[in-house]
Amino acid sequence: MIVHRRRSSTEDWHPAPVPETSDLHKLQAAAAKCKACPLYKNATQTVFGEGTRNAKLVLVGEQPGDREDRAGRPFVGPAGKLLDRALEEAGIDRQETYVTNAVKHFKWEPRGKRRLHKKPSSRDIAACKPWLEAELQAIAPRVLVLLGSTAAQTILGSKVRVLRDRGHAMPSEYCQKTFVTVHPSSLLRAPDEESRDRNYAEFVADLKKVARLLRSAD
Ligand code: URA
Repeated sequence: MIVHRRRSSTEDWHPAPVPETSDLHKLQAAAAKCKACPLYKNATQTVFGEGTRNAKLVLVGEQPGDREDRAGRPFVGPAGKLLDRALEEAGIDRQETYVTNAVKHFKWEPRGKRRLHKKPSSRDIAACKPWLEAELQAIAPRVLVLLGSTAAQTILGSKVRVLRDRGHAMPSEYCQKTFVTVHPSSLLRAPDEESRDRNYAEFVADLKKVARLLRSAD
């Protein structure tokens, strides 16, 4: 059977219903009902950020994956496990961070029985940005880490290039020490063990620089 999917139309897009509050629980409750873009239709639930309000470090990924969509929590799948391991090696305690995504619904397409990650469009990202802005305003982190190009471009604009600009702090509208690095899922896609190990070591080296920035922010 051929399923004809309706293309999204302008009626599918609305302003995100962000309440005027810096209470992360209230923001999360409001985001749970968000229908600002069509992604909510095929996702299980909104996956809001997670972590402490007093976090000095916020990490931003792209969007929840299959596991995160089911669990309702960010970075709990394979990329999250790799992130946890790299944070630990860099001496950063995830419990003291706040972890979130640029887009808060899982965008996917069917491939047999699997749900394959689909890159969010610039319209999806723009519709969701008010939630990320509200999280960053509520937390006001000392260091902001952008994992991969979707997060980097959401915060720093389309000119940023992860491989060129990674590894040093730069100011952004949301944090004086904004730091770009690769997305942990890019490490999972490395073609062979040697490049996987090298890319992972470079990722940990970036996170060690973040750990130093955090210590100097104390
Ligand atoms: N990839 C992301 O960017 N975010 C998640 O939460 C999981 C995988």
